[in-house]
Amino acid sequence: METVAARFFRAESALFFSSGYLANFAVLTTLLQKGDLIVIDRSVHVITREAARACRAKVTEVPHNDVQAIDGAIAAWRTAGGKGHAWIAVESLYSMDGDHAPLAEIAALADRRDAFLFIDEAHATGVFGPDGRGLAHHLEGRENVLVLHSCGKALGCFGALVTAPSVLREFLVNHCLPFMYATAPSPLIAVAVTEALAILRDEPERRAHLAELVSFANKTILDRCGIEPSGSHIVPVIIGDNSRAMAIAAALQARGFDLRGIRPPTVPVGTSRLRISLTLNVKKTDVSNMVEALIEELESNAV
Ligand SMILES: Cc1ncc(COP(=O)(O)O)c(C=O)c1O
Repeated sequence: METVAARFFRAESALFFSSGYLANFAVLTTLLQKGDLIVIDRSVHVITREAARACRAKVTEVPHNDVQAIDGAIAAWRTAGGKGHAWIAVESLYSMDGDHAPLAEIAALADRRDAFLFIDEAHATGVFGPDGRGLAHHLEGRENVLVLHSCGKALGCFGALVTAPSVLREFLVNHCLPFMYATAPSPLIAVAVTEALAILRDEPERRAHLAELVSFANKTILDRCGIEPSGSHIVPVIIGDNSRAMAIAAALQARGFDLRGIRPPTVPVGTSRLRISLTLNVKKTDVSNMVEALIEELESNAV
């Protein structure tokens, strides 16, 4: 399955972990060494932040999608005598805002600063890119790029594939304790993930259908609610107040709409929100009905 995945993503190699959560933690805490620097975007998933804290490198957090701040952090660290490797950790599509990272600029910066780039594609794999290979598809195979593809989201399976240069995969196989000392995944998972990758390649109509639904939902939310949408299948509706966000989420759930209220610490204080996540399990009429219900619940739960 790993060989098939490496070929599919056009990477040199791939390594399977039992979850994207574990893969994030395992890869970063194994590869980063004392004397290294890791620069993380402020909006990365909690596990990337925890992994950065747990590893032996110095950690710098920068404002969201601020390429200059990443550059500045690496430059300042070098000037202060930083001699190890610099790492940059980002998501290609942010899980709570649904927006994209400026990957081309960040990759160019990584090259210029001789840094490694770790890209979490949890929410982009299977949805974007040729054959659903993700938003970082054009960066796969580079010697300074590692990409995490969760198999538990659009792929509908379980676990995660980390694509990486072979030398880094070898290092992980021999040094990564969460990989070495955990039971290997069931062969059933290998079959399911291999099949999911084949479906991505062979059934592009699924992505086309989702893209149509996404553009319909984004337009409807803008037209009917005046909310600037994210442009992706993850659409946040910022409420601000924690209790109000949770009350509106509960009311919408009671009406049959499976969307979630998200509070700090998952999102910054003052930005509690409803998180709408579109899948192929819904139709345009469901989206329209949800938006009308949302308008009603925003009114009846007015501040
Ligand atoms: C950005 C991001 N990375 C990693 C994960 C964890 O992936 P998995 O569900 O495969 O453990 C998530 C899950 O919510 C996520 O949003």
